[in-house]
Amino acid sequence: MSLKHNLLRKKPIPNMQGGEVRSALKKQLSAMDLIILGVGSIVGTGIFVLTGVTAATHAGPGLIVSFLLAGLVCAFCALCYAEFASTVPVAGSAYTYSYSTFGEGFAWLMGWDLLLEYGFASALVSSSWSGYVQSILAGFGIHLPTAITNAFNPANGTYVDVPAVFIALLITWIVSRGAKESTRLNTFMVYLKVAVILLFIGVGIFYVEPDNWTPFLPFGMEGVMTGAAIAFLAYVGFDVIATAAEEVKHPQKSLPIGILGSLLIVSVLYIAVTAVLTGLVPYNLLNVKDPVAFALLYIEQDWMSYFISLGAIAGLTTVLMGVMFGQSRLLYALGRDGLLPKRMSSVNPKTKSPEFSTWVSGISIALLSGFVPLGNLADLASIGTLFAFITVSLGIIVLRKTHPDLKRTFRVPFVPWLPLIAVASCLYLLTTLQWITWIGFIVWIGLGVVIYAIYGYRHSALSKGDSSGYE
Ligand code: ALA
Repeated sequence: MSLKHNLLRKKPIPNMQGGEVRSALKKQLSAMDLIILGVGSIVGTGIFVLTGVTAATHAGPGLIVSFLLAGLVCAFCALCYAEFASTVPVAGSAYTYSYSTFGEGFAWLMGWDLLLEYGFASALVSSSWSGYVQSILAGFGIHLPTAITNAFNPANGTYVDVPAVFIALLITWIVSRGAKESTRLNTFMVYLKVAVILLFIGVGIFYVEPDNWTPFLPFGMEGVMTGAAIAFLAYVGFDVIATAAEEVKHPQKSLPIGILGSLLIVSVLYIAVTAVLTGLVPYNLLNVKDPVAFALLYIEQDWMSYFISLGAIAGLTTVLMGVMFGQSRLLYALGRDGLLPKRMSSVNPKTKSPEFSTWVSGISIALLSGFVPLGNLADLASIGTLFAFITVSLGIIVLRKTHPDLKRTFRVPFVPWLPLIAVASCLYLLTTLQWITWIGFIVWIGLGVVIYAIYGYRHSALSKGDSSGYE
């Protein structure tokens, strides 16, 4: 077989549809579980941490428009995810979709790219969690020794971020116990998070000073666009729903409902929070780590501010749970397809959960958030996501051409225009990222090519004639 043939080998779609998928994972999630998983995986650092600094330094009150624009881009991409998820309901999300549309070589790179996205997003959220917990502890007069408060940076006297390592390992343990168990705890915290956000909006709205919204665009439209690229990270996480596909009871109906439903809820919450936040506090004062809690202190609602911080901690915890869940299912799919060692796809017979891959991903995230100063590298989560979104959107156009008669319970309207708009918007956002992010991304992809050449190319289940790969 030629190299070209092997790189382009595809998983046949019919083997992936409905009843023909033989999966070892338990099918137990409903559409409502998916919406909760979605809102849980999305609402976190983006709204509780990034809003303040972005309003203060980039967008001003125009951040409302940034969130609206970023939400629109995500909505276009989410429609594409929904069609794929309703057609190819198996674990692995964009990775799996690429396997059936673009072939194995590209699919591997997509899987490798998603590992980067989920890995850095989780590490970033673990660090934010650590920040919020430390500020609550400080409120009680408790200060951790400096050496263990932040990632390795001897110049500042910090060596390891112990709270970040702690939360990453705790969530790994919870996720490793199985999907339903993880969603139960998740559900409680998602409700708590949504409750504090609604409380913030409900109370805050009475204190809004419309004067704070002028000037509305202190940094012009350029600032709004930069704000949109940053706000984009706040929406990352809805794709995690698609990674749970094999654990869903009625995947072809529930997945589109889960993806689009959670995105809609989140968009409304984000836009309302940003409007209230910038209405409560003059934007130039918002350059703080905990802007939502800060805004309540500003209007002298101290008790509520404390409550909001607790909600933020719960919120960041559920984001971690969702993204780490996605990461473990991705490793599971890569192992099952032979592109990573088979051990990754081993499933605990009792919990029916891929325990080994969950621990591999959890320990990597703990090390990353504990020791590596993330700084600009945090944008690697965005670059990874943007590439995944572009691939999925293009994949819809390809799939409509190659498999026009395939059963789709959800269809993206206006193909190819809508997916093309999604691609163009993601490409635009990519141009706003810094060169250091691009270098990091290129190095990561280079590493992926080497690993595929050494391992995946030879061990792939497809190379061994197994076109289903589902045992
Ligand atoms: N959307 C996730 C968050 O904002 C990454 O925390």
